[in-house]
Amino acid sequence: MDKFNIAIDGPAGAGKSTVARLVAKELGFIYIDTGAMYRAVTWKALQSGITAEDREQLVEIASKLRIELLPGEHGQQVLLDGSDVTGLIRSPEVNQNVSAVSAIPEIRTLLVAKQQEMAEAEGVVMDGRDIGTHVLPDAKVKIFLTASVKERAERRYLEMKARNEDVSLEKLEREIAERDRMDEQREVSPLVRARDAVLLDTTGIAIPQVVERILELTKSAEGKGTR
Ligand code: CDP
Ligand code: CDP
Repeated sequence: MDKFNIAIDGPAGAGKSTVARLVAKELGFIYIDTGAMYRAVTWKALQSGITAEDREQLVEIASKLRIELLPGEHGQQVLLDGSDVTGLIRSPEVNQNVSAVSAIPEIRTLLVAKQQEMAEAEGVVMDGRDIGTHVLPDAKVKIFLTASVKERAERRYLEMKARNEDVSLEKLEREIAERDRMDEQREVSPLVRARDAVLLDTTGIAIPQVVERILELTKSAEGKGTR
């Protein structure tokens, strides 16, 4: 199969990382989770006692960070200046601060350049919020995955329960709705469906069916002129 790029965007809990990883595996492509990069910068900022308001300091720190994304057994491994931060970047503190950090234009410029570099050789499935609209506007396949806020919160709830984490479903639902609002309303590269992205509402739809649908769309897009 020829190499090309696939962009998968959508809100938190839509199934982007799960589905993108499986699609990449099926096609022999590389999976890139761009949210992990914004999370890594946010984690570092929190560690350094810097908030999104300390913009200059934050940009300075972010410009010096070495972020590596490595394929792992159960998803992508994230290294920050050589240290494994894969689990640390999923903390509630990072969840609460990541949208504010990722609304800073200079941070986006830095990370988008890295993401475009990673996709240069093609053959990547990249997920995020602005991949189809901004990072890879020429991606051959563009998907906008979504599901109701209620179902997305329930999915996260089940995930956290399985890890024995103490959570309230109502709180998760509020947090997801708030993150959606911030990501959709920010000025730079807000979360929005690209005009040429296929909308897949996965409410009530199981993972294998979603993967199957994306593989079908990929097959029918093969042979088209764009990448
Ligand atoms: O996994 P989940 O959907 O909860 O979030 P994520 O994909 O890890 O992304 C975390 C946050 O990073 C999002 O809420 C956005 O604020 C930001 N993000 C972004 O602005 N642009 C991207 N391409 C990816 C993530
Ligand atoms: O990356 P994103 O935040 O969009 O979502 P995810 O982390 O891939 O998926 C969130 C949770 O929903 C995971 O536990 C998935 O197994 C689950 N999921 C699901 O139950 N049904 C789907 N159609 C997609 C995801």
